Amino acid sequence: MEELGKTNVILKEFQESDLDEFYRIARNKGVKKFVKVFYPEDMEEARMILDMLQDNTNYISFKIVDREGNFVGGILGDKIGRGKIDISYFIGEDYRKNGYCTEAVSLFESYLKEKSNMKFMHFYVAKENKKSQNVMKRLGVKLDHKTDTGIIYLKRIS
Ligand SMILES: CC(C)(COP(=O)(O)OP(=O)(O)OC[C@H]1O[C@@H](n2cnc3c(N)ncnc32)[C@H](O)[C@@H]1OP(=O)(O)O)[C@@H](O)C(=O)NCCC(=O)NCCS
Repeated sequence: MEELGKTNVILKEFQESDLDEFYRIARNKGVKKFVKVFYPEDMEEARMILDMLQDNTNYISFKIVDREGNFVGGILGDKIGRGKIDISYFIGEDYRKNGYCTEAVSLFESYLKEKSNMKFMHFYVAKENKKSQNVMKRLGVKLDHKTDTGIIYLKRIS
């Protein structure tokens, strides 16, 4: 996705050359527990996940890059039917608490609005994942319903 100017992060396509950095940041705290789709057990698995992230037939995914060009995290959308896309994200530990995730979700929404026919962003957040619940609050995303283990949030793409 093209640079958007005013933001502290931008979204870019994943590349094969991202492998080492991807392996490093995707093994940071909370990724295995809360966003397993991004978590590689070893380098071989990291390669497979990166391949999946580069193949946008089933998913829409981007790496999140800061102003210095650091690869700071990832965001992935999985089309789950009826115009809904389930969103997962993570930010590497060194880059958290800068508002990067909040910005990345907003940029992702703008991308979906322009380039897809998706109508709703859908998020599953574990009950104990207060940090991600804060991201939802900061973005004004509405709680849709609760399950035994987590909270489902829905946002109409606007
Ligand atoms: C959840 C997670 C993605 C949040 O990433 P993040 O970039 O730190 O989140 P935000 O963009 O919302 O940044 C928020 C923090 O930055 C602070 N901040 C600093 N500058 C800011 C700015 N300019 N704008 C907004 N927030 C700012 C906020 O105060 C906030 O702190 P708080 O959470 O204590 O309230 C990250 O903790 C993570 O990767 N966790 C592990 C994986 C995970 O849980 N994924 C989600 C699964 S549902």
